[in-house]
Amino acid sequence: MRPSLMRSTSQLLRRRSYSSASGQPERKVAILGAAGGIGQPLSLLMKLNPLVSSLSLYDIAGTPGVAADVSHINSPALVKGFMGDEQLGEALEGSDVVIIPAGVPRKPGMTRDDLFNINAGIVKNLSTAIAKYCPNALVNMISNPVNSTVPIAAEVFKKAGTYDEKKLFGVTTLDVVRAKTFYAGKANLPVTDVNVPVVGGHAGITILPLFSQATPATNALSDEDIKALTKRTQDGGTEVVEAKAGKGSATLSMAYAGAVFADACLKGLNGVPDIVECSFVQSTVTELPFFASKAWEEWS
Ligand code: LAC
Repeated sequence: MRPSLMRSTSQLLRRRSYSSASGQPERKVAILGAAGGIGQPLSLLMKLNPLVSSLSLYDIAGTPGVAADVSHINSPALVKGFMGDEQLGEALEGSDVVIIPAGVPRKPGMTRDDLFNINAGIVKNLSTAIAKYCPNALVNMISNPVNSTVPIAAEVFKKAGTYDEKKLFGVTTLDVVRAKTFYAGKANLPVTDVNVPVVGGHAGITILPLFSQATPATNALSDEDIKALTKRTQDGGTEVVEAKAGKGSATLSMAYAGAVFADACLKGLNGVPDIVECSFVQSTVTELPFFASKAWEEWS
């Protein structure tokens, strides 16, 4: 365990209440945009996560229904629905992890940048509320374009004086999930054994799967195969947008990826060592201020 994680763990032990039943620290997760295409399956997956003790489902409409539905599942997380601006503060208060899938999805022919005008405003408002009601939470940004919404959230947090670059993550896990699936399929490897780091950003050619670092290594793939796998990973979102033909973008695989990343955050908070996920974070890896790379889920 790295020293910073050990120190953090002992701070945590002093600070946190433990639920007697599970021996796990109490953890509150809020999902902003919980009634949407990604938000609903993500709410389901987070209700199934045993590390979650309280699940707060927020949206501008529809959350009472989603919360009532998900709350009947016999897992420990206590579910509450919140709707509209006036309930946003209560939804956020005390959150350890906030996941943001809110906003509008792509239609065929659109790039993620075409969503900027609408989603930037939504993310700005939600980030302002996070700074006010749960400034210490880990923020998992899913709303697109992630390459822009993460810097927007950073600026809002800076202005509020709450910014901690170790706590703001653009979720690029779906790129990793796709790269693993496509690589395993092409190299004929068991998909559950496969890992592929993906660096860069979360839009088209900024998505850089590092198949040269994939494990297990293979010599079954030609340069042409690697090129094709790279392109398919970069265009994975568009493949789904086109297949859905106007009915939205990736929601189920995105929810899965969001749940994987949030689980890594919860494990990191709980002091589990060696939790590593690629994500889009403030970075000194390149000259770009934000860049996806392997990030340690840690906090100070
Ligand atoms: C995708 C969207 C959700 O990667 O960004 O499909």
